[in-house]
Amino acid sequence: MKTVTTPREVRETIDQAKSVGARVGFVPTMGALHEGHASLVRMARARTGFVAASIFVNPRQFGPKEDIARYPRAFEPDRRILEDLGCDLLFHPGVADLYSPADRTRVSVEGLSDVLCGAARAGHFHGVALVVAKLFNIVRPDEAYFGQKDAQQAVIIQRMAADLDFPVSIVLGSTVREVDGLAMSSRNVYLDSVSRAKAPAMYRALCAARERIKAGERSPSPLAAMMAQTMREAGFDVEYAAVVDGGTLGALERIEGTVLIACAGRIAGTRLIDNVALRVSGAAVEETLLEFPEWSAYVR
Ligand code: PAJ
Repeated sequence: MKTVTTPREVRETIDQAKSVGARVGFVPTMGALHEGHASLVRMARARTGFVAASIFVNPRQFGPKEDIARYPRAFEPDRRILEDLGCDLLFHPGVADLYSPADRTRVSVEGLSDVLCGAARAGHFHGVALVVAKLFNIVRPDEAYFGQKDAQQAVIIQRMAADLDFPVSIVLGSTVREVDGLAMSSRNVYLDSVSRAKAPAMYRALCAARERIKAGERSPSPLAAMMAQTMREAGFDVEYAAVVDGGTLGALERIEGTVLIACAGRIAGTRLIDNVALRVSGAAVEETLLEFPEWSAYVR
């Protein structure tokens, strides 16, 4: 695996791979890699001839009150994990490799960025969209992989890629969980043993909502109330619990079509998020990924 820090080195390496006809798969990350990230790299490895990953803790997606300095970093173990997974290229830029102090261009995906997680994290998704747009232009992947774990991010990136005609297919991977249901996250290392034991209540709340939809519930508000209550009882400070439209992330009168059940909350100061997406058609309910290849002109 080649490890590089500058966009120019990425361009040269990708040009070389493309010149021999390889399709390029790309997994952007902020490092502190776990099985959730690894599952995306495996998917890339299985689907494309050349696999690139990036590790960059993007300052533009952290708010002024969010402690970027505290974000877990583990470059050498991460590098080994990617190497073992058969990754071909690791892009590990410094802040100055990606951002100029003179830059003035912003990427905002309107309507999708200020709801759910965006309501409490102003500017967060603009920072995500900007860095992903830049990374797409540098790496020029044929396919890019995102986790359902960050469902809102995945929807925003799919919308951005379609709206800005990035010639990339966005492919989603299922949420990878610990055995007790807690979604894997780089931030789970912040949990002490007491909070760690309580944290799976969030996924239990989501599963309870899913089961009630399977049993015929079609009204979002009682489910939202039930999830918030379950989380509160476990010790969460609830940020939101909602059932929304899976494509627009907007409020629903009635649960039908592709829907997202999503929660966010803090437990002992650590912010956790999770979600379950469902396709609801009449009485039929099945779990799904929030993947919309039809949004893009570049369908696989
Ligand atoms: P990061 O949190 O490192 O996540 C990188 C990718 O891994 C994202 O697509 C995320 O959804 C996915 N992922 C994280 N936990 C997962 C899990 N338990 N199961 C499956 N996939 C999981 O998301 C970011 O970084 C950044 O916002 C980024 C897109 C890199 C832009 O800076």
